[in-house]
Amino acid sequence: MTPASSGNIPFDRILSVATDAARQAGSVLRESTRTGFSIEHKQIINLVTDADHRAEQRIIDVIQETFPTHSILAEERGLTEHSPSRFKWIIDPLDGTTNFAHGFPAYCVSIGVECDERGIIGVVYDPTRDELFTAQLGQGAQLNGAPISVSSTDHLDQALLVTGFAYDIRETANNNLDHFARFALKVQGLRRTGTAALDLCYVAAGRFDGFWEVTLKPWDMAAGVVILREAGGMATNLKGAPLSIYEQELVASNGVIHRSMLDVLREDLTPT
Ligand code: IPD
Ligand code: CA
Ligand code: CA
Repeated sequence: MTPASSGNIPFDRILSVATDAARQAGSVLRESTRTGFSIEHKQIINLVTDADHRAEQRIIDVIQETFPTHSILAEERGLTEHSPSRFKWIIDPLDGTTNFAHGFPAYCVSIGVECDERGIIGVVYDPTRDELFTAQLGQGAQLNGAPISVSSTDHLDQALLVTGFAYDIRETANNNLDHFARFALKVQGLRRTGTAALDLCYVAAGRFDGFWEVTLKPWDMAAGVVILREAGGMATNLKGAPLSIYEQELVASNGVIHRSMLDVLREDLTPT
């Protein structure tokens, strides 16, 4: 049986705090698009805005009000650990910063929670569409409260896939362009939205059939992977082995096309 609590903390209480935090951060982002925000460059194509920082601070404040002893791993602030805790919150306050900075409405807030290193809660909020994706281990996945599930597409010819590229695309040969080129010739459609957490939720909701990336961070995956699995989807590394959100690689799908995706990812680039 899937646990619904740990000690005296029911998981649905954690879900409700995560939902509140995600919605409040979403309001911070929405407000920033009206009032303006400043942009800094972490590296040449890697941006951060003051809205990222303000949304992150709001999430941390909301969590600490109820769960002051829980560990928190947040993209901009790093790891905060008062003492060892069984719970770890993993936060991307703004997934899709480049889109946000350009006014392209594809970004979200992502909050995942682990208990004893296992993902138990996922909350992803898209403030531009007011879409809230939620999941609790063993309880299914929802979009704005209604159950969601993955697609039943069973062939790459009929599949709409999505991928993304890390900020080191110019510096490494492991930049996903080879996989992108091969998939482009095998699928019905291939997209790059610029927000990995939403990509995972869209696979969960059957809008995409599969998603892969080669260099993700834990905060890109923590929430979306719980949501995807609770919607009936599958997530592994590029070799098909069990996924660790701390090991960068991800293949996510409706389960049916997973093997076909792994086969494409395994193909060597054919020299011409
Ligand atoms: C990025 C987005 C993008 C993905 C990158 C991520 P950020 O996160 O999720 O879709 O391709 O790998 O780093 O920087 O916008 O939070
Ligand atoms: Ca991110
Ligand atoms: Ca981010």
